[in-house]
Amino acid sequence: MRHAAVRCQAAQLSHARATRPPSLLRSYARALSSVSSVSTTTPRFAWVLPQHHTVACRSLATSRPASTIARSDIIRDNPKNNVTDTIFSKLGTNLHQRPEHPLGIIKSAIFEYFEQSDPGKFKLFEDLYPVVTTAQNFDELLIPSDHVSRSDNDTYYVDENTVLRCHTSAHQAELLREKHENFLVIGDVYRRDTIDATHYPVFHQMEGVKIFDEGEQDVEAVREDLKRTLEGLAKHLFGDVECRWVDAYFPFTDPSIELEIFFNGEWLEVLGCGVMQQKILDSNFGEGRKAWAFGLGIERLAMILFDIPDIRLFWSEDERFLKQFKAGDLSSKFKSFSKFPPCNKDVSFWISDQFTENNLCETIRGIAGDIVEEVKLIDEFTNPKKGKTSHCYRIVYRSMERSLTDEEINDVQDRVRSVIVDDLGVELR
Ligand code: PHE
Repeated sequence: MRHAAVRCQAAQLSHARATRPPSLLRSYARALSSVSSVSTTTPRFAWVLPQHHTVACRSLATSRPASTIARSDIIRDNPKNNVTDTIFSKLGTNLHQRPEHPLGIIKSAIFEYFEQSDPGKFKLFEDLYPVVTTAQNFDELLIPSDHVSRSDNDTYYVDENTVLRCHTSAHQAELLREKHENFLVIGDVYRRDTIDATHYPVFHQMEGVKIFDEGEQDVEAVREDLKRTLEGLAKHLFGDVECRWVDAYFPFTDPSIELEIFFNGEWLEVLGCGVMQQKILDSNFGEGRKAWAFGLGIERLAMILFDIPDIRLFWSEDERFLKQFKAGDLSSKFKSFSKFPPCNKDVSFWISDQFTENNLCETIRGIAGDIVEEVKLIDEFTNPKKGKTSHCYRIVYRSMERSLTDEEINDVQDRVRSVIVDDLGVELR
């Protein structure tokens, strides 16, 4: 059962992902609006540029080399802190800054599109510090105080006022205050979530913002420019694809829309965008201007463009993966080096008050690392007499790089069983 849907019903949406720009998009949409967005399918897209075009700019406010991130900056003895060592180990990796990595290839391709259309106009920020305040991540984007994306089930908190950014939109307001008019931000973003082939708690997004000249006040014209720009990007990356727009909802844009493209026989959601809320622009940049903004998920595009079947592969240091991609080349198609067999293990338990599926997945990821491929709920029932609810989860273990031994998997599964009892308070059945 895909999680977002469950959460929607339960009215406690996650602000999901961006292999996922979609989920976040959708969750905002569902949680906050009665306007439901058109149902869509899955992810995709991409392209390239010579490295010297890529200007790494630092914002004054958040500038800080990632190499200076210390464990004690992130994992603190604070009741709100929910950052794990697994997550800490990803900080500062900056996969998007590797020119030969699929994520770096796509970053360059997108930047090149903007350079070609409007040379010198857009400034690229690619090393903004991923630890931000809740003001940056939520308040300055007009995300309501009771919005589900603020929950510590969905977002990684360092302390009450500090989070790992859950989207690159977290930098919009500060860059506006620094008077940047046209910019792109790429970076790693962090969201607590469930586990499957397209979901990982760290992924990469690109944000784009364009402010119009004073004379240009027509919202409809801004929206048309946004649509033209992004359709052009989709075609630049995917060739002559069919595009369609669907209504969406984000607290920080109005109107808000999502772009879908028809790719390999399916309509795929590609990005979320809209006309920036006037209040954000007025209070951070200055009154009397109009702007648009968009956000897209890089992994999702790379998975589609390069035929990459599992999001864990982006973190692989295995040459058999990395050697398949070349800077500037959007035409590579990933070939599996060999298929390793999956191993399924089921675990059943009575859930506790502090049990959530995200907590379960985080615990499993902490023990199994990247050998866990999927965690899915396969059975659920409530015993009315006992007033208790039982869940059975199937955990699929598989490495992308090697065969796993029975012994190794049994050992991991034993540890999972005991840690969920200790940490999540569940009762094994
Ligand atoms: N921040 C949104 C997300 O993560 C994407 C977005 C960016 C939407 C900018 C509109 C404008 O889903």
